[in-house]
Amino acid sequence: MKEQLAKIRAEALAAFDAAADSAALDALRVQYLGKKGELTAVLKMMGGLSAEERPVMGQLANEVRAALEQAIEATAKKLEAAALEQQLKDEALDVTIPGTPAVMGHKHPMYIALDEIKDIFIGMGFTVLDGPEIELAELNFDRLNAEEGHPSRDWSDTFYFDEDSRVMLRSQTSPMQVRAMDTMDLPIRIVAPGRVYRKDEVDATHSPMFHQVEGMVIDKGVTMADLKGTLNTVVEQLYGEGTKTRFRPHHFPFTEPSCEMDVQCHKCGGEGCPTCKGEGWIELLGAGMIHPKVLKMAGIDTEVYSGWAFGIGLERTAMRRFKIADLRLIFENDIRFLEQF
Ligand code: DAH
Repeated sequence: MKEQLAKIRAEALAAFDAAADSAALDALRVQYLGKKGELTAVLKMMGGLSAEERPVMGQLANEVRAALEQAIEATAKKLEAAALEQQLKDEALDVTIPGTPAVMGHKHPMYIALDEIKDIFIGMGFTVLDGPEIELAELNFDRLNAEEGHPSRDWSDTFYFDEDSRVMLRSQTSPMQVRAMDTMDLPIRIVAPGRVYRKDEVDATHSPMFHQVEGMVIDKGVTMADLKGTLNTVVEQLYGEGTKTRFRPHHFPFTEPSCEMDVQCHKCGGEGCPTCKGEGWIELLGAGMIHPKVLKMAGIDTEVYSGWAFGIGLERTAMRRFKIADLRLIFENDIRFLEQF
């Protein structure tokens, strides 16, 4: 029996040593130490031993059991460490493999044009204002001298929120003039870019949502000459030195006199071509001297102060700046189009 125990011990230790993984080791544990295991089988034969032999063999068997359990524990640890080592090897990252390049976006062409416009005005001492797109009709119309019955107030042109036509999506950035007059100290020099809304069908030159940049100056002794000088400087900085402009009389309720400013066609140099529809000129903005009524409604003394204002269509400016033919391209966000700028 002694030899049997020694044989089991030697065989088991060798087998544990050779176990490939912890599953194999578990199987060996069962094979040697389990209820039907080899060591247990030997122990079961203890009953047949003499009273002197029994305790000796019992002790020996316990020693063997302890030795096997110890060996299993040590081997299990060794296998666990090896498995971890293998996992680390398998999951190792090769940081030298070239990565997938991240695609960088860039500024939308219309915002490139807007940033240029803002830069020019900031350089001339203007402050840039931001204002609400949901506006009171009072500021969008009444305070700008467009009283009840003015055609631009019509439900067919304007997005109102209520039956009483008091709250609306602003149809122009001009209410920012009123907001500036109501909140800022004189003299005032501001530009206010933003979205405006009108009930227009979408086509190559129209959209129910578009952008304007409002501008306004109020100071002592401001004249139409300042308006022309400032806008000519802006146009030359935007479109290049020597770019010609012309001012045509027009009507806006909040300016008197009012005008529209055209820029000489960049395509034909004024000869007339399809881009300028044969005119030689392209309309860029509306402007004028602020109507005394508008100044008075804001509590400004018209004996001392005067001012001018303008409103530029931003999409139109960007389309001219980047020679874009269709307004819809500005809003469609087709990467193939936008990537070109
Ligand atoms: N708000 C006008 C429009 O949407 C544009 C405009 C014209 C703005 C003359 C002005 C201005 O500030 O003085 O058609």
